[in-house]
Amino acid sequence: MSEVKTETLLPDPDGIARAAALLADGALVALPTETVYGLAGDARNDRAVAGIFAAKGRPAFNPLIIHLPDLHAARAYAHFDEAAEKLASAFWPGPLTMVLPLRPDAGISPLVTAGNDTVAIRVPAHPVAQALLRAFGGPVAAPSANMSGKISATSADHVLDGLSGRVAAVVDGGPCAVGVESTIVGCAGGPTLLRPGGISVEDIETTLGTQLAARDASKINAPGQLTSHYAPNALMRLNVTDPAPDEVWLGFGPECGEADLNLSPSGDLLEAAANLFHAMRQIDVVAGGDKRIAVAPVPMHGLGLAINDRLSRAAAPRD
Ligand code: TXA
Ligand code: MG
Repeated sequence: MSEVKTETLLPDPDGIARAAALLADGALVALPTETVYGLAGDARNDRAVAGIFAAKGRPAFNPLIIHLPDLHAARAYAHFDEAAEKLASAFWPGPLTMVLPLRPDAGISPLVTAGNDTVAIRVPAHPVAQALLRAFGGPVAAPSANMSGKISATSADHVLDGLSGRVAAVVDGGPCAVGVESTIVGCAGGPTLLRPGGISVEDIETTLGTQLAARDASKINAPGQLTSHYAPNALMRLNVTDPAPDEVWLGFGPECGEADLNLSPSGDLLEAAANLFHAMRQIDVVAGGDKRIAVAPVPMHGLGLAINDRLSRAAAPRD
């Protein structure tokens, strides 16, 4: 792919207008959301969507999430059953993505849905994402703004580390507050957890009044479900309370006073999620070329489920 000079845009009216014009032109723009930065393109434009896959070096045929400003806009693209309506009114705007039956006349590029008859929809809460979606006025396909398989970007600098020269612009909206990607719930049959994320399973099940089904593990339909993903350069080992001399230690909670870096010294899972990807980049630098990364145990409730999911993929055996 050809190199472009990546513009850094301010999150002000001029920056938003410029970003919207680039999207309308079929160019790619990295935008801040409350979870992670997204690599955005017009979801109706096949060339723009193909450009997203090329810029990320992403394995083809993985479907992308479309981003819209509200439920009203989303209804033009998918059918909402009772459970989907409940989840939308409880959690949108916010870090929940739903996979829904696609309206055949929706005009979404088949590259976005990978030819499926379902579409993943997210309504982000970040004010800059909201402003850009409203200024653009169409559906925006946006996977996380990082090279495929690498650590997700939670600041404009992270985006530029991986994608400088590969996208037209990045809108700098500061660090992402949630820090892990959206929770994905399949709503094309019984509600199914496809990816843990920024909204806890407990909160979703309380809203639905039923439990979420588990996804069929034999089907890989999200790259975040590939075994090795979010990988730092150094090898990683999990649930370590006693690191070896050739390891740097990424801690969690007050028990890890000796850690090289701590996801949350007070043991707060929200803070740990917000810090996760930035901390993985930082600890990778501390590890240098020769040390391994050891990570302290993180409890398996609330956002701990999403944190452990990302950590176990980052630590998974690589090809
Ligand atoms: O927080 C987020 O969700 C971020 C921000 C940028 O919005 N986006 C994000 O996108 O994490 P991405 O592409 O890295 O992950 C979206 C996941 C993919 O793993 C994809 O396979 C899955 O959603 N997905 C998209 N459409 C789907 C569909 N029709 N059926 C099943 N899974 C789908
Ligand atoms: Mg991703």
